[in-house]
Amino acid sequence: QRQRLLVTRILPQLSQARLDKGFDGMDVVQWKEDRAIPRSELLRMAKGADGILCLLTDKIDAEVLDAAGPQLKVVSTMSVGYDHVNVPDLESRNIALGITPGVLTEATADTTVLLVLAAARRLREGVDAVIQGKWGTWSPTWLLGSQLTDKTVGIVGLGRIGVAVAKRLKAFGVQKILYQGTRPKKETEKEIGGEMEFVEMERLLKESDVICVCCALTDKTKNMFDYEAFSKMKSTVVFVNTARGGIVEQDGLIRALEEGKLGSVGLDVTVPEPLPQDSKLLSFSNCIVLPHIGSGTLETRTAMSEIAIENVLSGMKGQQLPHPYNA
Ligand code: GLV
Ligand code: GLV
Repeated sequence: QRQRLLVTRILPQLSQARLDKGFDGMDVVQWKEDRAIPRSELLRMAKGADGILCLLTDKIDAEVLDAAGPQLKVVSTMSVGYDHVNVPDLESRNIALGITPGVLTEATADTTVLLVLAAARRLREGVDAVIQGKWGTWSPTWLLGSQLTDKTVGIVGLGRIGVAVAKRLKAFGVQKILYQGTRPKKETEKEIGGEMEFVEMERLLKESDVICVCCALTDKTKNMFDYEAFSKMKSTVVFVNTARGGIVEQDGLIRALEEGKLGSVGLDVTVPEPLPQDSKLLSFSNCIVLPHIGSGTLETRTAMSEIAIENVLSGMKGQQLPHPYNA
C-alpha cells in the first residue's frame, strides 16, 4: 500500500529537491502555487493523505482531518507556532503534530531587534523623508529617536525567542529586563545575566521603555494587549510584536496610536495577514509593519522545511516525531 503525503506549498530549494526526487513507496501531492492553498483545494487534496506538511497559513481542524480520512497519522507544520492547528481535534484522533522549534530562534530574535531599533530610531520616517525629497539639511533636532542604553525592556514570553531577544538587547546597554510569562525562570535569568525580574503585567506595562511580545498565541494571550494595556504604557514606549497578530487587539492599538499614547510600534504580525493596504495601521508614521518575515532567512527557512520533512516522514512511519509540538 503506497502512502500519500500532502505538502501545501513549494518549499525552500533543498527540501523541494527532496520532494521532487520522491520517497520510496510514497506519492507526494503538492500545492505548487505561491499563495496559500484555498480551503476547497486543501479539503480535496487531503483526501487519503497519511501525512500533511502544512504552513501557518493553513487552518488545520476537524474538517481537514475528516476530509483526509482515518489513515492520517501526522500533521507537520513548517513553523514553531501552531495556533492554526486545532490540537484537541488531532489528539482525539491520535494524529501526531510536529513543529520546527529551535532553528528559527536566532532569526526571529534578530527581526525583533531590527524592529526595536527601527521603531526607536524612526526608520520609516527617515527613509520616507529621503525618498520624498524632504531631507533638508543635517539638523540637531530633526528625527530624534531614543536609544537602548540604560533603558528598561519588558519581554512578554521568556521562551527560546524571548531569551535570544534578551541576550541581544543586553549588548545594547539595556539596564534592566522585566519579563512576564507562565512562571519565573531563575536559571534563565542567570544565563542571561544582569538585572532581571519576573513581574506582574501591570508593572511591566508601566515601567518598560521597550516592550517585546515573544509569547505564543493561546486562549490566555489572545487580545492580551488591548486599549487598556496600551493606555498603561509610557507615552514614549517602543512596542514590538514578532509573535502573532492575535495577541494584540488591533483596534485598541489603532486607537492608542491615534491618541498619541505610544512612542513607536514595530509589527511583524497582524490580523489579518496580509494586512489590507487600507488598514489604518499603515497610516501612522511611527508604526512600522513587516510582512511576517521573522524567520525569513534562507538558512532558517531551509532548516525549518528540513525539520518539517523529518517530522512528517517519521510520523508516516509510525515513529516518534523528532520535534513534536509538546516536547
Ligand atoms: C512563524 O511565525 C512560526 O511560527 O514559525
Ligand atoms: C519559541 O520557539 C519560543 O519558545 O520562544
